[in-house]
Amino acid sequence: MPPRLILIGPMGCGKTTIGKIVAENLNLPFRDTDLLIEEEEKKSVSEIFLEDGEEKFRLLEKSVLRKELLSDETVLALGGGAPISMDAQSALRAIASPVVYLQISLANVAPRIGFNRDRPLLLHNPRGQWETLMQERRPIYEAIADTVIDVNGKEPDVIASEVLEFLT
Ligand code: S3P
Repeated sequence: MPPRLILIGPMGCGKTTIGKIVAENLNLPFRDTDLLIEEEEKKSVSEIFLEDGEEKFRLLEKSVLRKELLSDETVLALGGGAPISMDAQSALRAIASPVVYLQISLANVAPRIGFNRDRPLLLHNPRGQWETLMQERRPIYEAIADTVIDVNGKEPDVIASEVLEFLT
């Protein structure tokens, strides 16, 4: 059995926060590909980017994703870039798990990105970098998702309720 729910979306859209609330409500374990990679490698995502490079990080991400897609009844949050490779796109389209895209605008994400978490891809000009990534990724997120939830201006509990409603 695959995960009960897969959350996708860009950096700063709230996948971890929402995923934890939903998992608690469903009484299921919450997993996050970034945290799984950090546990496995015993270093932070930023350290991996800096010391080993992005290519290595993407390999680790692919391998964690492959494993997690086989794991039973979890709520799984994917790092913003995890669904982008062709392999990941096909796996996510094929899987029975509902895939929810948390959609956020640049205006709403701007205050959250750049300083409150380690985000190696947003080190310089976080807003510009975020928007550039989104131009490539937005159509992919939309194509993979079973539903899109607009998180702009909403409290985490409200967003989590919308996700739970979609699941029932
Ligand atoms: C990335 C998103 C990050 C993390 C890494 C790369 C991306 O995860 O995997 O910094 O390529 O968008 P979050 O989306 O959880 O911040």
